[in-house]
Amino acid sequence: MSHSLLNLQVRLKVRPVGVPTAEHFELVREPIAEPGPGQVTVQILFVSVDPAMRGWVNAAANYAEPVPIGGVMKSFAVGRITESRHPRWRAGDLVTGLFGWQQWAVIDASVIDRRLDPSIIGDLPVSYSLGVLGLNGVTAYFGLFEVAQPKPGQTVVVSSGAGSVGSCVGQLAKIAGCRTVAISGGPEKTRLAADLFGFDASLDYRSPDFVARLEQACPKGVDVYFDNTSGSITDAVIARLNVRARVVICGTVAYTDWSPPPLGPRMERQLLVTRARVEGFIAPDFQHRWGEAYSILAQWIREGRIKVLEDVLDGLETAPGSIEGLYRGDNMGKRVISVTSEHRKDH
Ligand SMILES: NC(=O)c1ccc[n+]([C@@H]2O[C@H](COP(=O)([O-])OP(=O)(O)OC[C@H]3O[C@@H](n4cnc5c(N)ncnc54)[C@H](OP(=O)(O)O)[C@@H]3O)[C@@H](O)[C@H]2O)c1
Repeated sequence: MSHSLLNLQVRLKVRPVGVPTAEHFELVREPIAEPGPGQVTVQILFVSVDPAMRGWVNAAANYAEPVPIGGVMKSFAVGRITESRHPRWRAGDLVTGLFGWQQWAVIDASVIDRRLDPSIIGDLPVSYSLGVLGLNGVTAYFGLFEVAQPKPGQTVVVSSGAGSVGSCVGQLAKIAGCRTVAISGGPEKTRLAADLFGFDASLDYRSPDFVARLEQACPKGVDVYFDNTSGSITDAVIARLNVRARVVICGTVAYTDWSPPPLGPRMERQLLVTRARVEGFIAPDFQHRWGEAYSILAQWIREGRIKVLEDVLDGLETAPGSIEGLYRGDNMGKRVISVTSEHRKDH
């Protein structure tokens, strides 16, 4: 390959407190390194924008060391190997991994998560491997089916119901024969959740009569609450739990800071009376079974039983402001950034 090309990277310039904004990043162009033994060069096609990335740059990182100042912003990505110096990988392979916000990644082969299985991705957009056929899909699938275990006829409430994980949860719950209720922000998203994603009821948490509408939307109470947000939405839903209800704590996007912990109504009495179960969940707990979920999700997408909406930003130049946009609710669907001209605009 030609190494006269420059690699556009988005690097962390200043460590943010709370949600990172455009000023915390800088765009840098540098020559592409040659891959060493055991390394591959990946031309990145799409990078992901996820709420969790807020935690990856804050000083008190949750699971791993925070991105260093001057480091390429960490992100999930999908790309094509252009050069391989590792026996397991070949030029032309489509692969995913934490390749970062950049056009080219020269990485140890161990950084690759998986080769896209052509029998699963087929002619579906490769960007789905960052959403419904990636982390968000397996989060919805295992969080709902394994942790919440919904039964036909039960009521499943989903916060951030028009979002990437939430819209998938709602559609899976519908496939499981449940009554589904989406909670999201603003009239456009509430319409989307009902019209495209098929929720039986769709509520706007910003509406002044949200709590009354929640009551009406759940006449038989709430059996499963799939919580992507925490906050006052969760307080309202917890108050309506049925006996033996299951609450899946998947995300806390309503809060950008947990120090000191946000305060709210105490839920112990409600849990005691209802004998409800509240369980935190992260999708990597089920990593050994992700392949199973990808196959089923791809089949349901092809059958039209799962609708997918992507919010595709055009070019890495949009990356610096893309995380704060998620926390404002700007995204309509799974937010990704198209990186190569091959996938820009025409997608
Ligand atoms: N546990 C896991 O393994 C795992 C894996 C992946 C993702 N997650 C979590 O799943 C959740 C959804 O992620 P996603 O990638 O699908 O994102 P998403 O729902 O597509 O996008 C984030 C959405 O959060 C909503 N939001 C932002 N601020 C809010 C607030 N103050 N109150 C209520 N809603 C707010 C916005 O929607 P509105 O316009 O409706 O406000 C925004 O569109 C996140 O909490 C994420 O961290 C967990």
